[in-house]
Amino acid sequence: MKAVILAAGKATRLRPVTLTMPKALVPVANKTLIGYAIDVLKAAGFQDIGIVVNDLDSPIPQTLAEGASMGVNLSYIVQEEQKGLAHAVGLCQDFVGTDPFCVFLGDNIFQDKMGPMFANFVGSGAESAIALGEVSDPSRFGIAELHPDGAIQRVVEKPKEPKSNLAIAGVYLFRPSIFDAISRIKPSWRNELEITDAIQTLVNDGGRVDSYILKGWWIDAGKPDAIILANQLVLEELPYTPAIEDKDLILGKSEVSHRVILGKNSQVVDSVIRGPVIIGDNTIVKNSYVGPYTSIGDNVVIEGSEIEASIVMRNCVIRNVPGRIDSSLLADNTQVVAGARMPATHRFVLAENTFVQL
Ligand code: DAU
Repeated sequence: MKAVILAAGKATRLRPVTLTMPKALVPVANKTLIGYAIDVLKAAGFQDIGIVVNDLDSPIPQTLAEGASMGVNLSYIVQEEQKGLAHAVGLCQDFVGTDPFCVFLGDNIFQDKMGPMFANFVGSGAESAIALGEVSDPSRFGIAELHPDGAIQRVVEKPKEPKSNLAIAGVYLFRPSIFDAISRIKPSWRNELEITDAIQTLVNDGGRVDSYILKGWWIDAGKPDAIILANQLVLEELPYTPAIEDKDLILGKSEVSHRVILGKNSQVVDSVIRGPVIIGDNTIVKNSYVGPYTSIGDNVVIEGSEIEASIVMRNCVIRNVPGRIDSSLLADNTQVVAGARMPATHRFVLAENTFVQL
């Protein structure tokens, strides 16, 4: 059984972070979103995984290559125009062949490993099985109504008047019958071929679609706040590790708590770090405070500043920033520094859709 991860798409809601980086490569606790998807699939026994990307020069194939470092075989399927999830799935027909297969949305992250859903599907006789999670804002999702036995009665994409709060999460199991269903649907009001409509076609044809109710948290990490929340939830699960006491790494008057992961060649100088915190390689934290739920990437300098509950990606500099940085997302190569000269002005070089709160 093969799996496909859908990772094409414009990711406009995550700009400016996604102006230079696909959403699937955004790091959560210093691991890419798509890395979490691959982990779940690998744990469920999937070895051959196709990834739908905008083009082969995109950073996803460049970064993940053939998957050897993750112990899976990755192939790439190009979707030149993002015409919807059903269109993307339709392009995978040659890749998946005639066996049942899994579709995983590359921007969804789950606490649940969904083992029973994967294990039960092949012998179940159902045409499809979909993961569902309870949400408080159902009109943002595909929404399912269930029969008493848990089978799907109806699914509607982003309904104005939702009939339930059970949202379609980003994991679907299909048989090749889905390709015929996709060929019969029409574009939706947002001009996309919706996989939700193809699933409804399976139901209308008399096929059974099973549901699997997710355990634990699930995040559709499409917006900055959702990424920051996912980072907190993943760091929350870091197992206990004792405080690092290595005198070559923790220098001066530093206080480093338990549950702090420090990468290679990184140093903490005269600083306080309160876990859970993860720090990448070649990073220096000096005269600073790094508070809980913070992930800091490789080659970062944090000096004379305070930060918590945030994601700082690679090659960033944060220096002498007044006040505490909180719930922030800094993409690669970002610099936030206080000027040393008077007058104490604010100076910005900001990309489209940048958000600054002073
Ligand atoms: O997150 C769960 C929701 O995902 C479901 O509840 C909805 O039923 C489902 O339609 C989907 O809605 P979104 O509007 O959140 O989907 P989004 O456009 O964010 O795309 C999800 C992933 O699929 C994302 O990683 C990009 C990729 N994608 C998207 C489109 C439109 C593609 O690979 N190709 C595409 O054409």
